[in-house]
Amino acid sequence: MSTLPKTDKTRVTVTSLMKLKQAGEKFTMLTAYDASFAAVLDQAGVDIILVGDSLGMVIQGHDSTVPVKVEDILYHTRCVSRSCQRAMVMADMPFMSFRDVPLALENATRFMQEGGAQAVKLEGGGHVLPVVEALAKYGIPVCAHLGLQPQYVNKLGGYRVQGRDASGAKRMLQEAKTMQDSGADMLLLECVPAELAREIGQSLQIPTIGIGAGGDCDAQVLVLYDLLGISFGKVPKFARDFMSETGSVQAAVEAYIKAVRNGDFPAIEHSFS
Ligand code: KIV
Repeated sequence: MSTLPKTDKTRVTVTSLMKLKQAGEKFTMLTAYDASFAAVLDQAGVDIILVGDSLGMVIQGHDSTVPVKVEDILYHTRCVSRSCQRAMVMADMPFMSFRDVPLALENATRFMQEGGAQAVKLEGGGHVLPVVEALAKYGIPVCAHLGLQPQYVNKLGGYRVQGRDASGAKRMLQEAKTMQDSGADMLLLECVPAELAREIGQSLQIPTIGIGAGGDCDAQVLVLYDLLGISFGKVPKFARDFMSETGSVQAAVEAYIKAVRNGDFPAIEHSFS
């Protein structure tokens, strides 16, 4: 039996998330790609359900997120949004789907109108600012994504912690501020030293959502399969298998929410310094 209070069905919005940041209350995000898992997450009280391009790896079996298409995200966003009443549904803009402003507007519109999403997320630094600005102007909530950007794996040559050197850290802090100034409503930080993520979070009004970015972000996100202990190959440092600690999917998700809200997850062993 759950010990977490069941939430009402009022939809989570960028405004309600901003209020949580202002109140110093942590919130949660998880990925889901289908209606059944999305329903479990929604009923447990996860605040944002991300239809991540990680589906290319965990659903489709590719070795990166690069092959994921707009139609894939659209299909899975439809599946997820059908069973979500409270959580904000966020569609991840896949590789090359936002390479210019008209294309980004067209694809984000599809994710919202046809997919039922309430927000989109996109990877990239300074060069995506015009896209963030245009989406924001047209009323599309945007989550920017800095730090490790898996869509760039072929340029990066691997999945590595970002912002470890002084110049990289300075650039990320600057990019974070310009994302906010351009209209981003949230900022996801992936594989960033905990100290840098803290500094970025303190310098922004918008919430930061961390994955491998330490415990001082305003929210946390995990790929659902990492939380459920379904990992093949190397388990990421930032992952925690809540399933083996609890024994059911629902209990694992509830334990994750509780651990994030209490500040028990992520711990130092899940973070980079
Ligand atoms: O696609 C995804 O699941 C993501 C997470 C790593 C946050 O972007």
